[in-house]
Amino acid sequence: MVSPDILARATALRREIERHNHAYYVLDAPTVPDAEYDRLFRELQALETAHPELDTPDSPTRRVGGRALDGFAPVRHAVPMLSIRTETDTTAAGAAAFDTRVRKELGLAEDDAPVEYAAELKFDGLAINLRYEAGVLVQAATRGDGETGEDVTQNVRTVHRIPLRLALDAPPEVLEVRGEVYMRRDDFERYNAKQREAGKPALVNPRNGAAGSIRQLDPKLAAQRPLSFFAYGLGEVRGWAAQPATHYATLDALRDMGMPVSDERRICHGATALVAFHDDVQARRDSLPFDIDGVVYKVNRFDRQRELGFVTREPRWAVAHKYPAQEEMTTVEAIGVQVGRTGALTPVARLAPVFVGGVTVTNATLHNQDEIDRKDVRVGDTVIVRRAGDVIPEVVAVVAERRPQPEPPRFSILESYPACPECGSHVVRLEGEAVARCTGGLYCPAQRKQALLHFAGRRAMDIEGLGDKLVDQLVDRGLVHSPADVYGLDAATLAGLERMAEKSAANLVAAIEASRAATLARFIFALGIRNVGETTAKDLARHFGGLDALIAADEADLLTVRDVGPIVAESIRQFFAEPHNLDVVRRLREAGVTWPETAGMQQSAGKLAGRTFVLTGTLPTLTRELAKERIEAAGGKVAGSVSKKTDYVVAGAEAGSKLEKAQALGVALLDEAGLLALLESGASPENNKPAEQGNLDF
Ligand code: IVH
Repeated sequence: MVSPDILARATALRREIERHNHAYYVLDAPTVPDAEYDRLFRELQALETAHPELDTPDSPTRRVGGRALDGFAPVRHAVPMLSIRTETDTTAAGAAAFDTRVRKELGLAEDDAPVEYAAELKFDGLAINLRYEAGVLVQAATRGDGETGEDVTQNVRTVHRIPLRLALDAPPEVLEVRGEVYMRRDDFERYNAKQREAGKPALVNPRNGAAGSIRQLDPKLAAQRPLSFFAYGLGEVRGWAAQPATHYATLDALRDMGMPVSDERRICHGATALVAFHDDVQARRDSLPFDIDGVVYKVNRFDRQRELGFVTREPRWAVAHKYPAQEEMTTVEAIGVQVGRTGALTPVARLAPVFVGGVTVTNATLHNQDEIDRKDVRVGDTVIVRRAGDVIPEVVAVVAERRPQPEPPRFSILESYPACPECGSHVVRLEGEAVARCTGGLYCPAQRKQALLHFAGRRAMDIEGLGDKLVDQLVDRGLVHSPADVYGLDAATLAGLERMAEKSAANLVAAIEASRAATLARFIFALGIRNVGETTAKDLARHFGGLDALIAADEADLLTVRDVGPIVAESIRQFFAEPHNLDVVRRLREAGVTWPETAGMQQSAGKLAGRTFVLTGTLPTLTRELAKERIEAAGGKVAGSVSKKTDYVVAGAEAGSKLEKAQALGVALLDEAGLLALLESGASPENNKPAEQGNLDF
């Protein structure tokens, strides 16, 4: 008699495993990670082995997988689809244990030659039997309980990589190819990104994605899922004259008839070679384009496979050698946020430490508020954490049944973090945006480097020489906290930095100095206000004429600016509503950053409104870019070629054909001084005579 305790434990385990089976196989909604399921399964197996009287015909250990769904017709397999023994020792030594067993079963002596194995990957997807009659795919079935599976032919036909007809002149009467339907990681990521964009549910992981797609009742939906396939064995075979004598050669033959077969396979002689394969694949596991959960070793020769035979439902000639799981279960102890370079707040689950994907994980990304809502992750929840490859660990799902009672509240980034944890500036989430952001763009330490690089950029303040490497050093050494500090840098400080010679330090100081004379448009753009690009900055400068008018503008004012909609207006308001940002703007002005201001368009349409200019030749002080900006800031237009509609041609040194054309058409000519005078005096063609050619300063 078994003790009541053991009986109770076995009953509880069976119930729990059945529940997970149902959730996984029937509902496509796994409740626990594989590793946890395997542990429960192994515990039950161990109990049943130790106490044979516990074993009942309805134990989940008696079947290999789940039952057929109501919607799919059952398919009785001509040759049962067996399971494969799992070597529980995940270290390389597991390979040696298998070899020892095989040699013993084959009655080999120590000095007999090493056994020849085919070593391959253990793909993490869904096992499928493909039945080809006279070379044509007639049926595809899942494994089901090993004896009877489900007819998923329609869905499998949507998998492009599975040939509908074998590339053979004289195909066998019957050839059943067995293998794994799986989803590549990049396909999985792309598919999920698309789903999220459309506000539709994302897939939990690639394996679940593959299994769920094949078991989709609507083949049109299955067809939208990007699935792949690898063949790894045979089922029923009739009339295959050229059938090879080994497993490895069989896969070669399948590949030659158009079946996808992975190249990641080797012939290995003896345990040492298996161990080498195991280690080599493990080292490259993360860089494979798809998930694997281990490797599989198979005795290569079919005659030896037959000699070894089966125990219960598992062949003695094959073993699965697993790697540490990439999904595990743990609890969420808190939810924090990380502030990115652009101010985006990424929620991060702080986890009870868990060993997953080969490392101990204590943080996992939750992506954004929408993802938190979709997965409904709360502090205190038990969650499934995934770490595959070098990808940041992520929370893939909540184990709903383990939520503490009474339920913890839903998590909201804005409620928990009204102020940025890095700088205390206020946090906002713009309508239609997935992410919450810190508004302290110019001030926030997390955004410092990004803000500085943008500020110094060619189209912003144009501080040549202030690039990534230098910004890194300046910020990391605490020399620069905000763009305003740039104007306090001197040549001696700069020359002390890495890769900075005296000459380059002097050049940089000169570039910083020169950048003080800005235009309003450049300055506005340089502030890095979200959603305010170069064109919007110009429009704003032209419209408001001065910075204080822009800072004072309310939403209604902003909406009157050309091309400014509610989102841009909101971004501008939020930026100037943050005192930290205003403080940096004030300090920039104090540091001597200036620009010409105009009355703006509220009062006048711009001094040069309606006038078209063409620039040619080299002007003595203004770059062409700057001249263009000044003209545009005053409401004028700059065109590329001279026509009758041109009002002024501004000509500098080495002016060419444009000057000639202007003279031919009788268009007014200006030199730089004339242009500056025009900009200054608020010209109209009547009261401001264009300069004569004699004034040109060649
Ligand atoms: S051979 C009799 N080879 O692992 C041996 N299985 O229980 C039959 N799997 O879900 C299986 N990669 O779908 C074999 N290279 C591979 C495999 C593989 C993945 C899966 C298979 C089944 C489980 C074996």
